[in-house]
Amino acid sequence: MRRFSTLASVVIGAAVWVAGPQAQAAEGHASASISNGKAIFTQGKGDVPACNSCHGEGGMGNDAMGTPRLAGQISQFIVKPLEDFANDRRQDTTMFVMNTNAKGLSPQDRRDVAAYASTLGPHGTLPGASDLSNLADLKAGGTELGVGYQGKAIVNYGIPERGVPACRSCHDYNGRGVDPIYPMIGGQKFVYLINQLNHWRDGSRANDPMAQMQKVAKSLTDSEIRDIATFLSHASPLTIGNSRTPERHGFMTFDTGSTTVGD
Ligand code: HEC
Ligand code: HEC
Repeated sequence: MRRFSTLASVVIGAAVWVAGPQAQAAEGHASASISNGKAIFTQGKGDVPACNSCHGEGGMGNDAMGTPRLAGQISQFIVKPLEDFANDRRQDTTMFVMNTNAKGLSPQDRRDVAAYASTLGPHGTLPGASDLSNLADLKAGGTELGVGYQGKAIVNYGIPERGVPACRSCHDYNGRGVDPIYPMIGGQKFVYLINQLNHWRDGSRANDPMAQMQKVAKSLTDSEIRDIATFLSHASPLTIGNSRTPERHGFMTFDTGSTTVGD
């Protein structure tokens, strides 16, 4: 019962930020112009620079700049951060550019560029090694890495004795994401993952519905954050022996097991 009521409140929480003028776009890409989105992504618009100048040609993100992968991200989860940056609900404390960039685009532009970026890159497969974080390079450059299998355990099972829920209970298998609320975090850039978990933990990022991520991150140690990022940055969305992913799971496919979701 508890699990059900938590899910129900998640849905309600989501409805709050999906409602409004964006509601229609949240239904799909019907009202988005991919060609306008592509123009913004590759050429910029007005004072807003081309997105690919920081997020990479293919939108796969860049560890040196601390930019996230946008390619293949759930479209609504590119719109939502852009709306949050535009309305100062979230601050970019990495390069201090995203608030200005998002404000420089109209709501329609933001939907268009999100729709375009979500079409980029591999869908439902693990990107090639050159598109994923180069952990060996990061280590050589002095970045401390974690232990992948320990991160995997947290993603799958959480840390029950400290009330940390399994990441998988919301973000699905290996963090492949659940449309439209739970972003894809598997195959995301290492540096970005570390930054965001730190930001949730210290409260400098607080745009998550019902503080779900702040609660999760609060109990994580630095080394656990490194373990998680080490695993997730190379986590495949494919289950073993299965060459196809179910397209963007709905709520009913959740495998929360006995995990306690939320607080
Ligand atoms: C000058 C570099 C730069 C440019 C240009 C840029 N970004 Fe970003 N973007 C960043 C950085 C850095 C972050 C990470 C912010 C943080 O750490 O919170 C980011 C974060 C984001 C996020 C949040 C993703 C998530 O998973 O929450 C979105 C969405 C985004 N950018 C979209 C865009 C779009 C669309 C454009 C083009 C209109 C663009 N960015 C142009 C640097 C840039
Ligand atoms: C109760 C559900 C829930 C659980 C459990 C959960 N998350 Fe999240 N997570 C969310 C939501 C919702 C968001 C989107 C927040 C927003 O709207 O910006 C999110 C966002 C994130 C982001 C930012 C993604 C981006 O593109 O900016 C990261 C990283 C993340 N989660 C990692 C984790 C990790 C690691 C765990 C397990 C230790 C975890 N999450 C467990 C609900 C959850």
